[in-house]
Amino acid sequence: MSEPLRSSPAWSGAAIAGGLFGLAAALAGHLDLPLILAGLGAICLGGWLGGRGPTKSPPRPAATTQRHAVAEALLAHVPDPVILVDRRTLVVEANPAARALLPALHHARPLSFALRDPEVLDGIEAVLSSGLPRRVALSTRVPLERTFEVQIGALPMPDGSGLSALLFLRDLTSARRLEAMRVDFVANASHELRTPLATLIGFIETLQGPAREDAQARERFLEIMRVQALRMTRLIDDLLSLSRIELREHVAPTDVVDLGALARQMVDAQGPPAQTRGATIRFEDGDGPYCVAGDADELVRVIENLIENAVKYGGGRISVGLIREDDPRLGRRIVLSVADDGPGIAPEHIPRLTERFYRIDAASSRARGGTGLGLAIVKHSLNRHRGRLTIESTVGQGTVVRVSLPEYGATPAQPVTDQAGPG
Ligand SMILES: Nc1ncnc2c1ncn2[C@@H]1O[C@H](COP(=O)(O)OP(=O)(O)OP(=O)(O)O)[C@@H](O)[C@H]1O
Ligand SMILES: [Mg+2]
Repeated sequence: MSEPLRSSPAWSGAAIAGGLFGLAAALAGHLDLPLILAGLGAICLGGWLGGRGPTKSPPRPAATTQRHAVAEALLAHVPDPVILVDRRTLVVEANPAARALLPALHHARPLSFALRDPEVLDGIEAVLSSGLPRRVALSTRVPLERTFEVQIGALPMPDGSGLSALLFLRDLTSARRLEAMRVDFVANASHELRTPLATLIGFIETLQGPAREDAQARERFLEIMRVQALRMTRLIDDLLSLSRIELREHVAPTDVVDLGALARQMVDAQGPPAQTRGATIRFEDGDGPYCVAGDADELVRVIENLIENAVKYGGGRISVGLIREDDPRLGRRIVLSVADDGPGIAPEHIPRLTERFYRIDAASSRARGGTGLGLAIVKHSLNRHRGRLTIESTVGQGTVVRVSLPEYGATPAQPVTDQAGPG
């Protein structure tokens, strides 16, 4: 860990008023509030630490000391990294967030020992020579890929020895990630809608032109158009349910429902269509009822999607079961399992199955009417129900998907913090 950072004696308590004044003058109208706050904190802290050193001379009044302690706490609690360097870019101050991000940061050592980014270092040079603030981008790859916006402002040294530079690093990593997800989502949704639309337009044009008088072709094309239109409707329905569930995700359901009754209802409804695909569904009902606090409509969609997936991608013999389980951490749970003896899922796909539009084989899933949103909806519904989803699969042997929910009335062994996986 770096040695404790101390300010130079130039930042003595007596110079604080001048520093504050200089800071206000230097920053007015140029930089935003966090940087100004950090600047105030840095100057006060610098002044205080400077006064604490061996060159300390006249004792400070108690009120000033108190203000400095507040400033120090303020700087320590700024969650973003803040660094102050002098005109030779030697480190004068850094808050804990900066030291955590750049462990090689040491007092009175060049900033470049800890931060080698040429854009930031050039930015500091430019700020120190022009006195004008700047913003530059900084990306780190190790240990994690992170993106920062670095705001650099010039501060006059309180002893009149020139300018120092204050760096404020704003972490944009999650904002960037969210933005990328949003862009991906819109691109995926438009792509999924554009494909059936293009098919529809193609057939409409054929019916208006070459196939105008061909009654047989018309019948065939109209059926294809109906299927494509249904696909678009299903996609829009799925998108709407996903956003409805996301909106309600923080509101825990209060109705009491019997998961066993819902599962039986779904097995009965899905049995005949499964048979036409050559699959059979067995229901292993245990010692019910299996009561959970839940939203019946959402839970029906969860069970429906799991059974539908088992039929579409697994096939063969499917079994749906319910048991009670005592989890040492989560307490008494109801576990619903849907197992198939189909081709299984390779391990690299499993963590990604709950991502929106993620399909192992997009073309074949689409051909089976899949939108790739089913498991994303399941995940968000389960988050709302404090449920968990686990997928176990062996290639060539089959897949078991389990949903566990707290049993109604049972007290959890510990507060539940875990939720279903990514997506
Ligand atoms: N039991 C299973 N066996 C093999 N692969 C599966 C199984 N369940 C899901 N998958 C794979 O996971 C992917 C995602 O499933 P998900 O339910 O999210 O979407 P979908 O079924 O393609 O579309 P939708 O549910 O919207 O109709 C599927 O496309 C399929 O590749
Ligand atoms: Mg599905």
